[in-house]
Amino acid sequence: MTANNDKTQLIEGLDDNALDHEYDGIIELDNSLPPWWLYMFYGTIIFSIFYTINFFGMGAYKQQDELTKQYAVAEKAIEKYQKEHGSSVDENSAILVVDAAKIEDGKVIYEKNCVACHAANGGGGVGPNFTDNYWIHGNSINDVFKIIKYGVPEKGMIPWEAQLNPEQIQNVASYILTAFKDKNVEGGKEPQGEKM
Ligand code: HEC
Repeated sequence: MTANNDKTQLIEGLDDNALDHEYDGIIELDNSLPPWWLYMFYGTIIFSIFYTINFFGMGAYKQQDELTKQYAVAEKAIEKYQKEHGSSVDENSAILVVDAAKIEDGKVIYEKNCVACHAANGGGGVGPNFTDNYWIHGNSINDVFKIIKYGVPEKGMIPWEAQLNPEQIQNVASYILTAFKDKNVEGGKEPQGEKM
């Protein structure tokens, strides 16, 4: 031990565990590490072994699975949003949908809201007949979408934009134009509007 005794003497017993080097009067002491620190250090080593096994491809965890899970959550959220707000379809961008599930959705909406005035078979009543080829407001998907959305309140056709979201309006409009086309049901209301 070549620690500079002149200096280490100042603190009693300091040189007992001083290491064998000294620079410009600075010495290094070989104190034992505080146990809390030491056990935490061992802990991190043990943790790193489990971590490596589990998260670097050898365990059950896969990043790809995590991504798939996140996608599923996001898709649910999008679905929920669209259910609540509908899409951004309007009378200009509406299209005649052909998807069977959407037509079925349109049918359910029609049966719940429209049969009272337009009849279940589309033959009309208070409202016009959908099964003849006569239309008061036009028979393009855009015309029909617009009438359902804004109604014709002064003639007794309710505006539906508060009750139905754009997607639902598009579905029910597509249902009307698909299911009743050229059916000319018996006992239907007399033609109104122009032949198309
Ligand atoms: C309270 C009765 C009533 C209900 C309920 C009703 N309608 Fe009507 N609807 C009418 C009347 C009346 C007209 C005719 C408006 C006019 O003379 O301009 C009409 C017109 C229409 C037209 C235009 C027909 C044409 O010849 O241009 C469409 C499309 C239509 N309704 C769809 C629907 C849909 C879809 C629903 C259900 C979501 C619905 N209606 C619910 C009374 C109703």
